[in-house]
Amino acid sequence: MAVFPIVKYGDPLLRKHLKEITDIPEILKLVDDMFETMYEEAGMGLAANQVGIDMNFAVIDISHAEEDEYPRIFINPEILDSTGRDDMEEGCLSIPEIRATIPRPERVLVSYLDEKGDYHEEWFDGLLGRVIQHEVDHLNGVFYIDHLTPAKHAIIDKRLAEIAETGAPSTGIVL
Ligand code: NI
Repeated sequence: MAVFPIVKYGDPLLRKHLKEITDIPEILKLVDDMFETMYEEAGMGLAANQVGIDMNFAVIDISHAEEDEYPRIFINPEILDSTGRDDMEEGCLSIPEIRATIPRPERVLVSYLDEKGDYHEEWFDGLLGRVIQHEVDHLNGVFYIDHLTPAKHAIIDKRLAEIAETGAPSTGIVL
């Protein structure tokens, strides 16, 4: 197993809509290393472009927080519907030392393929629903901080420029 370097804010791959996956065996070769990287970095989710891969899939594992959870793979996921609204603090391995409370739908209906290629449509809520929304954003070239108000976004602009330049901000910020 190997740990990938994390692609940071400022890299154009993080602003790209990733390529739809047609060859599932091809991504299964990468999945173990994706999980290994995510655990090494103490993340709950990791999108392929965060490790430099232009393929539309993400891995998620929140089992440290919810004991009936397990490592999941979402291939070509799409959010089909949503209900409610919830505020939750988010962070991102590609935007180190910044955290911000973000409003998002409370429940989302997600279509995706699993690692066997089986198609699912399933509602998710709570922490898992939140992490899925964060990762689906990544696969579409969107960051959680894109959901901040312009005033709040302005507070972190300088730190984002530092991350783009050096890989880390000079100071952390929690919004
Ligand atoms: Ni992220």
